[in-house]
Amino acid sequence: MLTITTALPEEYRVASADELAGRIGAAKAALGDRLLILGHHYQKDEVMRWADARGDSFGLSRLAADRHDAEFVVFCGVHFMAESADLLTGPDQRVVLPDLAAGCSMADMADIDQVEEAWASIGSVADLDRVVPITYMNSTAALKAFVGRHGGAVCTSSNARRVLEWALADQPDRPGADKVLFFPDQHLGRNTALAMGFPPESMVVWDPRKDLGGLEDVDVKRASFLLWKGHCSVHQRFRPAHVAAFRAAHPDGLVVVHPECAHDVVAVADLVGSTDFIIRTVDGAPEGSSIGVGTEIHLVKRLADEHPSLHVECLDPSVCPCTTMSRIDAPHLAWVLEELVEGRVRNQITVDPATSADALVALERMLSIP
Ligand code: 13P
Ligand code: SF4
Repeated sequence: MLTITTALPEEYRVASADELAGRIGAAKAALGDRLLILGHHYQKDEVMRWADARGDSFGLSRLAADRHDAEFVVFCGVHFMAESADLLTGPDQRVVLPDLAAGCSMADMADIDQVEEAWASIGSVADLDRVVPITYMNSTAALKAFVGRHGGAVCTSSNARRVLEWALADQPDRPGADKVLFFPDQHLGRNTALAMGFPPESMVVWDPRKDLGGLEDVDVKRASFLLWKGHCSVHQRFRPAHVAAFRAAHPDGLVVVHPECAHDVVAVADLVGSTDFIIRTVDGAPEGSSIGVGTEIHLVKRLADEHPSLHVECLDPSVCPCTTMSRIDAPHLAWVLEELVEGRVRNQITVDPATSADALVALERMLSIP
């Protein structure tokens, strides 16, 4: 991800929390309905308190698309989320990411050159007409566009199973896939395929740093799922030992984890699901329940604060924030908002028209899957 970052002016770096809050509030009021601030569930409270809407990555992008009157969408999330919002919003809407360094380490694990190379290598041993590429929402717009050009679709952690079922089934314009190339998160791919009943032998890991993904021809030919060697550094930290320790302390407790966790963790959890699913699970838990959660710490802490009648704790006691998301803070938010008041758009995220058109094809395919 190439970013050209303007340094945050000193006045914002030295301002107190109270001063920043006053300045953000005043800028927000001055911009009124022209402004929409979106906060991803993993965002910290000093930022989240200003969000007009909270949500997961895809839900927030759709919200931005529905608010045609919002001239400026300030996306308090990470880079791929702001790109998705730019794809789904109108030409007159401008999407701003308060700190351009707020990337996603998982999305950065697959770049377009590596994916193009992988595609050509797979084509040397398999019929590409029977390979369907699927990219997780957590990927650059360039990857979504690649998928759009090659008959594939985007998926989220909520609909990954339905999208894989779609890829493998006969469609009016193509036969069912013989193989799926899934990127960038090997864990979401593996957890989903295993939940669908596929055996572990049907999956191989594609290492983009090695020739033919580090595989033999025969492995590629036999596999139903080529899983890109990518992961989320936050969710991959959770271990089965964390679940065991939680269960020892809370024998009647419930364990819910995100599907970006490794399969050995998912296998010992009670429930697995997206950010939204985790929130719904905690919201619906009976009073007095203990819930061990395997996801980002800001969300877990917020759930604990919002549910004083429950015991909600992060499964990893050493705490795992999404450090890139954490780059969005009150000083950066105050800066971009005050610049907007002055008529200057800082840190705008734009996807070029050709990439946008192809990426939208992949997103629309996903949306058309019932
Ligand atoms: P959501 O799609 O649930 O917003 O999750 C995004 C993410 O980055 C999870 O790590
Ligand atoms: Fe990316 Fe993981 Fe952060 Fe989600 S939690 S934005 S996947 S690094």
